[in-house]
Amino acid sequence: MGTELSRRDLVRLLGGSAAALWLPRSDAAWTMPEPLAASPALPDERFWASVREQFVMPPDLAVMNAANLCPSSAPVLDALYKATREMDRQPSPAYRSEMEHAKEVTRQALAEFLRVTPEEIVVTRNTSESSNLVSSGLDLKAGDEVLLFSDNHPSNSVAWKEKARRHGYGVNVVAMVNPHPGAEYYLDAFTKALTPQTKVLAFTHLTSTVGDLFPARELCRLARERGILTLVDGAQSLGLLDVDLREMDPDFYAGSGHKWPCGPKEAGVLFINQRSATRIWPSIYSAYPGAVGISKSFESFGQRDEPAIQAFGEALQFQTKVGRKAIEDRGRELAQALMAGLRKLPGVKVWTHADPARSLAIVSLLPGTLDPLKLTLALYEKDRIVCATRAGADRGGVRFSPHFYNSHAEVERVVAALGRYLATGL
Ligand SMILES: Cc1ncc(COP(=O)(O)O)c(C=O)c1O
Repeated sequence: MGTELSRRDLVRLLGGSAAALWLPRSDAAWTMPEPLAASPALPDERFWASVREQFVMPPDLAVMNAANLCPSSAPVLDALYKATREMDRQPSPAYRSEMEHAKEVTRQALAEFLRVTPEEIVVTRNTSESSNLVSSGLDLKAGDEVLLFSDNHPSNSVAWKEKARRHGYGVNVVAMVNPHPGAEYYLDAFTKALTPQTKVLAFTHLTSTVGDLFPARELCRLARERGILTLVDGAQSLGLLDVDLREMDPDFYAGSGHKWPCGPKEAGVLFINQRSATRIWPSIYSAYPGAVGISKSFESFGQRDEPAIQAFGEALQFQTKVGRKAIEDRGRELAQALMAGLRKLPGVKVWTHADPARSLAIVSLLPGTLDPLKLTLALYEKDRIVCATRAGADRGGVRFSPHFYNSHAEVERVVAALGRYLATGL
């Protein structure tokens, strides 16, 4: 049995409700920062420090794991909390319809963020769901082919392969090359792998493995010219890159709110190009569809976490306020500084290409002979640095993914800590 006293036990022991006044309350777990000032034309470290203050992470914690899971800012947490509280305080039809409206506000925000129309936006739970709605919703049969990239996430590779077993279509895969051999190489490799039977090209905009950046617009054009549908996995590009889907012009684009957009968990997006809306079937038929365009037929997902969807919209607004291009530039700048530092460490092999046209803010490396899992734990426990372990023999090691709440000082801390462990062991 645990020895920890609950808050209620403490209140009882200390003599009733008066004691409760000074005990920390779970619903006051963060203080709201001053509203973020308008972004300067040239954001400096001071501005980025003020962005960091919008987050509730302890100041000494250097979190470089955006590719996995991002924290929400205090304004987003506040929106989530307030909407949830209101929903449960007045669970009336009136408030429910207010929340339905909030979903449409987020749809509008997503459309603006991605530079498309609300009629092309489906609000989903995450990238996995979005990609699977595509692989389940297309008419594919024996004799058809789907072309994948070998570094696709399971939601965009295993899903296609398993559904191929059921429906009988074929799957071809373009193999990754490390280090990233450049956009031209992949354009050529994908061109060669397309056949008259190819019906879908499904690839990842920015890979989660080692952060390879793909020429999404050119690949989508390549497919479009041949009448092939495209699914772009944007889990690592939404909220990091200043994505313009009108320019990229995929048929489908999938993203998650809880990664780079710093939104709540279980709020994501599927973009369905207007021209492709008649090519895809809904996979779920239930109640509460969206109000416009494709969402009217495709988004009847039943009861949703509408406060989370509303807070997703807040997160997009927060990013827009900071500046989309500024966020992309900041991520790239920090990753470049990190790679420059790592290259000086003996024994470190950086899997990610330093060319800014081939990578962005995901940096994977082999930390010499150090055990990656033990290193990740030591960095967290002793150095207050959060990163991800990349297990396995395929470009294994550790992965750092800095975002707009990180600083150059934190990058220097990472390089110094790694250098120390390489010199002295773990
Ligand atoms: C490239 C890529 N696609 C898809 C996913 C799945 O994202 P989610 O868990 O939000 O569905 C991930 C998760 O890390 C990812 O990196």
